[in-house]
Amino acid sequence: MPPKLEPTLTPLTPPYMLKTTKPKARSLHPYEPLPEPIITDRLILRLFNEWDMGPYHTLARQPEAMDSDGGYSVSFQFTKDRFLPLLPTNTSFFYFGIFLKGDSEGDLIGSGGIYDKASTETGWPRLEFKFKKEYWGQGYATEFTTAFLEFWWKLPRQKTMVIINESLVDPQNTSGYTPELLYAWTKPENLEAQKVLQKVGFEYLDGLNNGLLNWQLRNPSSFE
Ligand SMILES: CC(C)(COP(=O)(O)OP(=O)(O)OC[C@H]1O[C@@H](n2cnc3c(N)ncnc32)[C@H](O)[C@@H]1OP(=O)(O)O)[C@@H](O)C(=O)NCCC(=O)NCCS
Repeated sequence: MPPKLEPTLTPLTPPYMLKTTKPKARSLHPYEPLPEPIITDRLILRLFNEWDMGPYHTLARQPEAMDSDGGYSVSFQFTKDRFLPLLPTNTSFFYFGIFLKGDSEGDLIGSGGIYDKASTETGWPRLEFKFKKEYWGQGYATEFTTAFLEFWWKLPRQKTMVIINESLVDPQNTSGYTPELLYAWTKPENLEAQKVLQKVGFEYLDGLNNGLLNWQLRNPSSFE
């Protein structure tokens, strides 16, 4: 009787392309509805429109709020250049203005969401959030992140490929498949942001040598 053949295990080689899932790409088709505002106990999260540029400038010119986002805006033009890509016409972003909830929509106090659907650091979508400093320490970032994640994981999924950073390749993984992840980074000294990420389930991601603390969260519906 011939010997039983073991399945051939193919080691991954660059580029490290793996099968996974990601939210379905948004299109700009006029019949495709944009995400509805998300209402939490104290916040309204909604996509930005052109009228939000002025309020966004009050956030963008605050050094403390913009510390993790390339520095604060030194002029309205600077704000405009960074604000326009956040509008929903840019389909590679999934980005919300964060407003206080009152009898009606209140002030813009922060912003957050998916900055980049395929981050250069990992290949995975990157979550980020920021708040005006006068609103820190009141649980708003945790409230936002919890609501955003509920929204994000419920978006319809499509099968796709991800090109992941070489340092994240698991040599044991010969299946060509990887569970879907969400990525975030923080500065090492930013303990508040790390606490928020950990509270909503992010885990430390080792291996990226980028001088930052890196975090990952697995899609709760992913299977091995
Ligand atoms: C990071 C940031 C979003 C936090 O917002 P926030 O609304 O103050 O966050 P929350 O109030 O929801 O939670 C902060 C948590 O950090 C804790 N915390 C605050 N300062 C801390 C410190 N020095 N060390 C450890 N934990 C700290 C708080 O106690 C709180 O935890 P708790 O609810 O268990 O008490 C806000 O500081 C910010 O906008 N920073 C600038 C932008 C930024 O760094 N964004 C993160 C990049 S992803």
